[in-house]
Amino acid sequence: MNVVIIGAQWGDEGKGKIVDYLARDAGIVVRFSGGANAGHTIVLSGTKYALHLVPSGILYSDKIVILGSGMVIDPEALFAELDGLKAKGIDWEGRVLISDRAHLVLPRYKDVDREMESNRKKPIGTTGRGIGVAYAFKASRDGIRIADIDDEDRLQNLGEEDKAFIAKWRGKLKPMATDLAAYISRHRNSWTLFEGAQGALLDIDTGTYPFVSSGMSCAAGAAAQGGIGPRRIDRILGVFKAYTTRVGNGPFPTEFKDDSPGSLSNYIRTTGNEYGVTTGRPRRCGYLDLVALRYACMVNSIDRLVLTHLDVYDALPEFEACVAYRIDGKVVEDFPASIRDLERAVPVLKKFDGWKTPISACQSWEELPTKAREYVEFIETFTETPISIVSVGSDRQQTIVRESPWTRF
Ligand code: IMP
Repeated sequence: MNVVIIGAQWGDEGKGKIVDYLARDAGIVVRFSGGANAGHTIVLSGTKYALHLVPSGILYSDKIVILGSGMVIDPEALFAELDGLKAKGIDWEGRVLISDRAHLVLPRYKDVDREMESNRKKPIGTTGRGIGVAYAFKASRDGIRIADIDDEDRLQNLGEEDKAFIAKWRGKLKPMATDLAAYISRHRNSWTLFEGAQGALLDIDTGTYPFVSSGMSCAAGAAAQGGIGPRRIDRILGVFKAYTTRVGNGPFPTEFKDDSPGSLSNYIRTTGNEYGVTTGRPRRCGYLDLVALRYACMVNSIDRLVLTHLDVYDALPEFEACVAYRIDGKVVEDFPASIRDLERAVPVLKKFDGWKTPISACQSWEELPTKAREYVEFIETFTETPISIVSVGSDRQQTIVRESPWTRF
C-alpha cells in the first residue's frame, strides 16, 4: 500500500511528526522532493530530532528510508545530519538509500542562491541552501545526478572545485545509490510512505509563485519523483495546522497585523514554537485560511486531512478562521493565482468559541472538548475532506487517530 503525505499550507505543518508516527506500520519511507531547506522536527521521549534531508522514518531501527529522485542533495549537509543522528544513538548505516536520479547541490549553488536573492527587488526569502539553483540546473540539463558522479563525460563541464567536491563525497555516496523505481517495484508488498517537503502552497506549480520553493511539494510529486506512477498511490494525506504560518516572503492574507509583545501573533509563535528549524527565522503567523486549505485539498486530491497544533489554541477564549476573501470589495471564494490579488485580499473571518482547557492528554476523539470538535467538524465540512488524525502535542503519543490511513476505503 502506498500512502503520500504532503503539507497543505506553506510548510512547517508538522509533517515530520506525522510521518514518524505512521512510519511505525510502514516498511519504507521515501522523501520525494526538496533538500536541506526543509526542517522536520520529531520529539521522541523528550529528545528532539531535527531532520533536513533524511526521511522521517529513520528513528525506527527496522525501516528503510530513501532520498527520492526529486530531491536535491548537499552531501555535506546530509553526512553532517547522519553523524548527528549517530551521536544520538540512531544507527543508520545500511538503512539510508539515495535515488540515483536525485541531483547534487554543489557548494557554489549556495553562493548563487544568495547573490540572486540580493539582486531581487522583492526577495523570496530563500533558505540560502542553493535549492532553487540546483533545480534550475536540473531544468536546464546541466545538473549532476548521483548516477553521474563517476561519469567523466558528465563531469567534464565542471570546474576543478566542483570536481574536488564530488571526489570528496563519491566514496560515501556510491554505496547508498539505488535505482528507486526498481527498488519500490521489488518491494511492492511493503507498505510505503511517500513524504513530501515544504507544502502545497510552496510548490513550484500549485504554490504562490514566485514566492515558492523550486521543487514539487504537491502530491503529484510522489508519482513523478518517488519511483511510482500515479495509479499506484492508494491514499493522499494533507497535513495542516489549526492556524497558518509562513517563513520567507510572499502573500499571506490571514497574517496577523499586530506582532507586538502580548499580541495573538506573538502568543501563537511562542506557544507553537514557530521558529524555522533550518534557519531559526521567526515564522509569520495568522488564522487558519480555509480558502487556501480547500484549494490545497482540491489540487492535490487530498483524501484525508491531518490537523496538528490544535493544542496551541487551548488558552484562547475565542478565535477566527478565514472562509472567503474580499478583493476590491468583491467576495472571492477561490484561491487566486495573482500575487497582487492575494496581497490585497482581506480575509472574511468566522468566529469560533475556544475550549479553554488543555487537550494534550486527550487520547480519543470523544475526549476532546465539544468546542474543539466543532472546529474540526467545521473544517471538514468546509473543505469536504474528513480529518482522520488530530495531533494535540509534539510527542508521538499525543496523536488521536480517528481512521488509520493504512485502512483501505
Ligand atoms: P528555498 O526553498 O530555499 O528556495 O526557499 C523558497 C521559499 O520557500 C522561502 O520562502 C522559504 O522560506 C520557503 N521554504 C523552503 N523550505 C521550507 C520549509 O521546509 N518550510 C517552510 N518554508 C520553506
